[in-house]
Amino acid sequence: MTGGTVDHGIRLTVNGREVAVAPHPDRSLLEVLRYELGLTGTKYGCGEGECGACTVLVDGGPARACQLPVAEVEGAMILTVEGLARDGALTDVQRAFVETGAFQCGFCTPGMVVRATGLLARNPHPSDGEIREALDGNLCRCGGYTRIREAVRRAAEAAAPGGSP
Ligand code: FES
Ligand code: FES
Repeated sequence: MTGGTVDHGIRLTVNGREVAVAPHPDRSLLEVLRYELGLTGTKYGCGEGECGACTVLVDGGPARACQLPVAEVEGAMILTVEGLARDGALTDVQRAFVETGAFQCGFCTPGMVVRATGLLARNPHPSDGEIREALDGNLCRCGGYTRIREAVRRAAEAAAPGGSP
């Protein structure tokens, strides 16, 4: 993260680190993440709340960062794709996306991975229908939906007791 912790402004916790950002009233969370904090893993797609490329977790729930004024998430815990891997070790969801080949251009991938992470955190054993429903609002222009859903299934299996390491 290139942005530093400052002593004033809107405070929020991003990937476990408390930051304070300038209180521009019209600034979206997406703009803050990308342009103030240097977290460019969260993508700018449509900018209109339609594509899900900007999905992050806010207090554990999926949210479209392009539609969220940063002032509305003051005090919240934000998780972006950069906050998933620890010391270079991918999460089950990230590893499953790689192993399944669940991306082509990769533009939708951070949003998909973050949304899937939120889904499995609250529902570790989702049905195919629940996976489909959870990812429904995230668009993949490369049409990789089948492999993306397969990756989420694989991640759920890996996290289950007796699942693959
Ligand atoms: S960039 Fe936010 S929904 Fe498309
Ligand atoms: S992999 Fe290209 S948009 Fe989904």
